[in-house]
Amino acid sequence: MQHFLDIHRTDPAELRAMIDAARRMKAARGGRPHGAPDDLQPLAGRMVALIFEKPSTRTRVSFDVGIRQMGGETMVLSGREMQLGHGETIADTARVLSRYVDAIMIRTFEEATLEEMAEFATVPVINGLTNRTHPCQIMADVMTYEEHRGPITGRKVVWSGDGNNVCASWLHAAGQFGFDFTFTGPPTLDPEAEWIAFARARGVRVAVERDPFRAVEDADLVVTDTWFSMHDPESARERRHNQLRPYQVNEALMARAKPDALFMHCLPAHRNDEVTSAVMDGPHSVVWDEAENRLHAQKAILRWCLGV
Ligand code: CP
Repeated sequence: MQHFLDIHRTDPAELRAMIDAARRMKAARGGRPHGAPDDLQPLAGRMVALIFEKPSTRTRVSFDVGIRQMGGETMVLSGREMQLGHGETIADTARVLSRYVDAIMIRTFEEATLEEMAEFATVPVINGLTNRTHPCQIMADVMTYEEHRGPITGRKVVWSGDGNNVCASWLHAAGQFGFDFTFTGPPTLDPEAEWIAFARARGVRVAVERDPFRAVEDADLVVTDTWFSMHDPESARERRHNQLRPYQVNEALMARAKPDALFMHCLPAHRNDEVTSAVMDGPHSVVWDEAENRLHAQKAILRWCLGV
């Protein structure tokens, strides 16, 4: 029984094994219709609770479909409909759910909620996004990069925009998979110093470059995300748009990266804000493969958690 809480808290060899397993499982499906079950049914007889305190399309559908492909069943729970944090402690909810289900995936606001769930659950807990990190997304992203361009180790990844929770998990991945990472964005939206320090302590080069055109020079991969995250206050929206406009990923910016550079966005994208449609739908973009690979990467994570 192992929790999957964050990339920086998981052994690099285990992370590598999960990516390799995800690729094998994807290959084994061999073009089968997406809803069709896998030949191997490692989750047969198992129930997974999927808890959402924030909206989701990809995380919800990819976990649900992936678990069903592996023979398991799911129970999708909205935070609003549960007693989670409304009088009943997270610890008590964790204890109760552990008597009903075989694993818990939770998307929540505060990291402390995830931590308390993991501390008191006696079944594996998976981080489906908190305000601070989004590890399942970056496992799919690393898988996607390697599918198109081979090993990510030693490559240069550039993040343009808000140093948010997705950026944080990219920094963790830089340290664990061994690639260089450049952040470009306004100083008020820098990634947390703790995450930069983590990657640097693992021996990779982490740069902060305010000029986006200088930042993307020699980039193998350019990544961005929404300028306004689900937990950001509405009052900050206009200021953020003004601050982040120079960091839009457009064709002019992509032209300064390596000719074969890839573009990724975890989605949902706000076309013509953080990325232009020309880039989203253009030759560098692998965003649809990236979205599909949530399915395969999370199946590998679940099997690792459950030891099946
Ligand atoms: N990228 C991602 O997590 O998408 P959803 O918010 O739709 O789950």
